[in-house]
Amino acid sequence: MERTLVLCKPDAVQRRIVGRIIDRFEQKGLKIVGLKLVKFSQQLAGEMYLMHKGKDFYGPLVEFVTSGPLVAMVLEGNSAIAVARKILGATFGPDADPGTIRGDFGMSKRYNVVHGSDSPESARREIGLLFDNSELIDYQIAGDEWVYARSPEGMI
Ligand code: RTP
Ligand code: MG
Repeated sequence: MERTLVLCKPDAVQRRIVGRIIDRFEQKGLKIVGLKLVKFSQQLAGEMYLMHKGKDFYGPLVEFVTSGPLVAMVLEGNSAIAVARKILGATFGPDADPGTIRGDFGMSKRYNVVHGSDSPESARREIGLLFDNSELIDYQIAGDEWVYARSPEGMI
């Protein structure tokens, strides 16, 4: 099983759509193993987006993500990183397909509602920035027996 970090960005919190966003991941079958409301400091935003330092959108991006609280969650499941990215949709609302979170909830090229890790390395790094190990909970969901099939290769 893989883990990924998803953020409901400050626009999602202010627009009161966090519940509907979380619902999309739950209904897909991803498991929430960590969840909290956080306010990004300048330093945390800088670490989160260090790969974008120097780009023209970096300043506005940091301003956006530090502008109010976010909801951060760690989701677990088979191919969780790719599955969550599909649920998010293309980076900006106007380009994102209907049925995705960004496609259904956003019109902006800056306020794009959510974030999702883009690789196993990013997921590990981003989860480490936001969650202490003790805040990630290992548990069984009874319904998982009907989300995955048991097979010789494991749960598929
Ligand atoms: P995210 O990291 O938030 O899940 O989004 P992403 O992978 O689809 O996009 P990425 O390239 O990683 O960019 C991170 C965030 O920077 C802002 N951005 N603005 N040209 C622009 O104005 C621009 N490009 C990127 C977005 O907030 C994007 O989510
Ligand atoms: Mg990204």
